[in-house]
Amino acid sequence: MSFELIRLSDPVDHRAELAVDVRHGLGRRPKRLPSKWFYDDRGSALFEQITELPEYYLTRAETEILRARADEIVATVAPDEIVELGSGSSTKTRMLLEAMRRTGTGCRYAAIDVSEGALKDAGSSLVDDYPWLEVEGVLGDLGRDLPRVPRHGRRLVIFLGSTVGNLAPRDRPAFFRTIREGLEADDAFLLGVDLVKDEATMVAAYDDAAGVSAAFNRNVLVVINRTLDADLPIDAFEHVTRWVPGASAMVQSLRATRRVTARIGALDLEVSLAEGEEIHTEWSCKFTEEHLADELDDAGLTIERWWTDVGDRFGLALIR
Ligand code: AVJ
Repeated sequence: MSFELIRLSDPVDHRAELAVDVRHGLGRRPKRLPSKWFYDDRGSALFEQITELPEYYLTRAETEILRARADEIVATVAPDEIVELGSGSSTKTRMLLEAMRRTGTGCRYAAIDVSEGALKDAGSSLVDDYPWLEVEGVLGDLGRDLPRVPRHGRRLVIFLGSTVGNLAPRDRPAFFRTIREGLEADDAFLLGVDLVKDEATMVAAYDDAAGVSAAFNRNVLVVINRTLDADLPIDAFEHVTRWVPGASAMVQSLRATRRVTARIGALDLEVSLAEGEEIHTEWSCKFTEEHLADELDDAGLTIERWWTDVGDRFGLALIR
């Protein structure tokens, strides 16, 4: 039917926001950068490659659940529209959209993502394949911009891929409350989470043999160099991933393999790292059903249905 791209924050804001995050994040100890800056067009493409790696089980496990449950989910909620946070390529979403078509409920899909390239590619291939579908691509921040997406009837908000695990643990309560405040009486929230499992399996998923995860991690430096006229030496950083039981998270960082000094031109800022110093780049928190239920409960949300894949690696929750 149609594809429309909406910009909730303009490109100047985007650059200014990265500038703030870099000034703040590299000016503190320990250094850190928000993981959303991985996702320029190259970063989004690298992530798509990750989803096909033998070690990265998350996407396949979640796809297995969605394939089995899409009809049931759509029949239960009967949504007029699906609104997706962090939609990326929208590949898994197709199962829900097709179920929506089969059950004859809604015909609208709004996707919120930080990557313009990913939104445009996903949007144009969706309208090609589903001529009955009205698609809106919303360029923006998934937490902040959800309340600004115009509503058209009963809504199923979906947040797949365990991307909720990329929020800092301390930011999750406020995020769940924002979700809760945005839901009306018969709306629902579908959330995919990676489950705690043996450490070796989790570590391999973030440290693959082909080195795609490492390239993805370093991409945040590529983005900073290009966007903020910086000269961070990409090859002086190694990819580090570790299981941190206290946070129930795989934590990614970039470690300086030698002493590094760099200039961030646009900020008129000098940055230096000692040999071995790390920049924290990503949380990938892992959940249990009980822990998730407790956190949701604190935000006034309840798990109504819970499904896992056959190997119990990944969970999908239907929440109200
Ligand atoms: C965006 C949540 C799906 O944390 O597993 C993949 C991003 N980072 N490899 C994750 C990611 C490193 C991914 N998700």
